Amino acid sequence: MENLPRKTFAIISHPDAGKTTLTEKVLLLGGGIRSAGTVKGKKSGKYATSDWMEIEKQRGISVTSSVMQLHYDETQINILDTPGHQDFSEDTYRTLTAVDTAVMVIDSVKGIEAQTMKLFKVCRMRGIPILTFINKLDREGREPLDLLEEIEETLEMETVPMNWPVGTGKRLKGIYSLQDQTLEEFNEEADTRTVVPIDQAVSLEDYERETLDEEVMLLSEAGNTFSRDKVHRGEQTPVFFGSALANFGVQSFLDHFVNLAADPQPRRASGEFIEPGSDKFTGFIFKIQANMNPNHRDRIAFLRVCSGQFDRGMEVKLSRTGKKLKLNQSSSFFASDRETVESAKPGDIVGLYDSGSFQVGDTLCTGSELVQYEEMPQFPPEKFAKVTAKNALKHKQYHKGMDQLVQEGTIQLYKTPYFEDYIVGAVGELQFQVFEHRMKNEYHVDLEFQHMTHELARWVVEGNVGDNMTDSRKMLVHDQQKRPVILFENDFALRWFQDKHPDVKLATGWDIIE
Ligand code: G4P
Repeated sequence: MENLPRKTFAIISHPDAGKTTLTEKVLLLGGGIRSAGTVKGKKSGKYATSDWMEIEKQRGISVTSSVMQLHYDETQINILDTPGHQDFSEDTYRTLTAVDTAVMVIDSVKGIEAQTMKLFKVCRMRGIPILTFINKLDREGREPLDLLEEIEETLEMETVPMNWPVGTGKRLKGIYSLQDQTLEEFNEEADTRTVVPIDQAVSLEDYERETLDEEVMLLSEAGNTFSRDKVHRGEQTPVFFGSALANFGVQSFLDHFVNLAADPQPRRASGEFIEPGSDKFTGFIFKIQANMNPNHRDRIAFLRVCSGQFDRGMEVKLSRTGKKLKLNQSSSFFASDRETVESAKPGDIVGLYDSGSFQVGDTLCTGSELVQYEEMPQFPPEKFAKVTAKNALKHKQYHKGMDQLVQEGTIQLYKTPYFEDYIVGAVGELQFQVFEHRMKNEYHVDLEFQHMTHELARWVVEGNVGDNMTDSRKMLVHDQQKRPVILFENDFALRWFQDKHPDVKLATGWDIIE
């Protein structure tokens, strides 16, 4: 085990903002524990021979939030992938519960987009520090000041630029380091990085220098003062400009990242905080990946080590049941390569072979006293479908599979009053596909899906709603804890309901957990 300090992070971004490109460049800078181009098989096609689950093969992409590791500046950086595009699912959200820092990648042309916003909300809820990388500086993007203003207003978070662009798109000359007063010159052709003191930057025209002076003055007079504490509380975000594709500004970002990103944090368990430095080993499962190899029904549970040390073969207890387990089979994930992990430190992610013992949110620990980390939040589903078994004779397997997969966190289950029809809820389409696939492969049940047009779920936390309130725009269901939930077709239906029933208090799943 490497004894280096750990920094564990995930990227939050909207599809196409440049997450994959930035990850590749960061991995390359780290001495290439993995080479670039293998982050996502879509482009390199490297997944063709892997034995991962069918869906992955069909799409040629990695469904799994794989975990990447690199060493940089005496630090071990763990990057947890957050699948976007069609692969957006609850796992994407859950991954954010296992990191200490998030990097928000924003496309300089587009600004903040929908998926960034959703993922941002999870970070905010959990107080995760966010570093911002404004990407695609080589394109004619929006004014840097505009982008900062948008972040401040939309996300209600202070921004502190760490560097500042001189020009954008075709007129991009470089980025100016506000800390060092140096200019990193932009030269698409050159392989090497040129950083010069600003007063020696001969490439700048007079007008560019004047504009830079004005903007820097404005930032120092009207801008926010950098505060490490605020950054760590998630109240302020340091902002970096660059171009992942041109590998421009990535290294200076990484240099700051190792300094600014949070160390493995203490986590709250059963009312108290457990320090990563504690001797007692603890960790929690944030994701379960099934059927990576269709010939074996193996599942892999992703464990985030929170305190103490993980050693392969160690005996731990599963807090939910108090049962003892020996952790013999453990692996780390470098996308398609699985390597055996002998030991791991707080901040690390370990893959555990699972024969059905684990659920998402489970805590593992050593010692006589059982520790239970806080419950995994239930993320608001946005897609719903009525499900039944195609073959009614298979009802036994159907219910067994359903129970198991819901417990495991594959899908959310709701039931209608009286008839108890099953309605499944998911954050993204992929979750339905994985659910369908697993029901067929593991429980031999073919499912019939009736997709619904509802998009919003709201928990009724105060006031009474009759059981007969279901109509074409809304539907009353109960969640697993038998709490009433209303599914609405859209925002309009939700607002209409709120106007008619001011005494009924509604909450998203998040509020309930809070
Ligand atoms: P994602 O993982 O966030 O979805 O984004 P990804 O890195 O795949 O990037 C999306 C597209 O944006 C890619 O182009 C990529 O090359 C481009 N891109 C990423 N960073 C930059 C940048 O700094 N500047 C510019 N100009 N483009 C950037 P694509 O055409 O969709 O894919 P490809 O076929 O070029 O790889």
